[in-house]
Amino acid sequence: MSLVHTTQLRLNILLERLQGLDFTRANQQPSELGLDAKEVFIPSPSGGKHLRRVLADLDIRPVDSVLDIGCAKGSAMRDLLRQPFARVDGIELSPELAAIARRNFAKLGEARAGVHCADARSFKHYGDYAFFYLYNPFPPAILDQVLQQLVPQTPVGAERIVIYNNPTGHDVMLRHGFHALRRYPDFWGHGIQVYGNRPQSGRLRAA
Ligand SMILES: C[S@@+](CC[C@H](N)C(=O)[O-])C[C@H]1O[C@@H](n2cnc3c(N)ncnc32)[C@H](O)[C@@H]1O
Repeated sequence: MSLVHTTQLRLNILLERLQGLDFTRANQQPSELGLDAKEVFIPSPSGGKHLRRVLADLDIRPVDSVLDIGCAKGSAMRDLLRQPFARVDGIELSPELAAIARRNFAKLGEARAGVHCADARSFKHYGDYAFFYLYNPFPPAILDQVLQQLVPQTPVGAERIVIYNNPTGHDVMLRHGFHALRRYPDFWGHGIQVYGNRPQSGRLRAA
């Protein structure tokens, strides 16, 4: 990480602390949060200009809602809230992180934001969301279990868009019928992949 980036990060943490917020400060390891490190990747925040670049290409309507699967403290949700979504929700396995996320959005007075403390493998409300965001929250085997829930909950004929940052479960996405629509750069060089449940999507503006 460059000196400029580290300095920016420290500045963000300081500014957030002054506002009583905590989106960016380093998270604990999964084991310190009581989570299984084999099933949960290290919680870290995403968002910023790379995610905003992806969102700028999407046709998001005020009737659409988005779900951040594994939202941690809500960093990416903050950028999602800049879009005209009806709701910006997150699900988070760690009660500790979910509580911090809730506090952040309460402090910001964000009425459109909601955080469920839940396991993505047994979440029953995927059908409510047209858009999903994931920042590499878990290994491919867990993604497979999550998609076994998510895909059948999709109303017949409904279009779904998944924004997957650092898509380590790319093959699993394809196996569950998603199409890789467009890839964008991210800060770390892993890429952000946009998937759709249709081979082409009117929701993704021409490049
Ligand atoms: C890399 S962090 C991403 C944070 C956030 N999405 C962002 O981009 O700012 C991934 C989060 O997914 C959560 N997670 C992992 N497995 C999960 C599961 N089965 N259900 C819900 N959340 C999970 C972890 O606890 C962690 O906080």
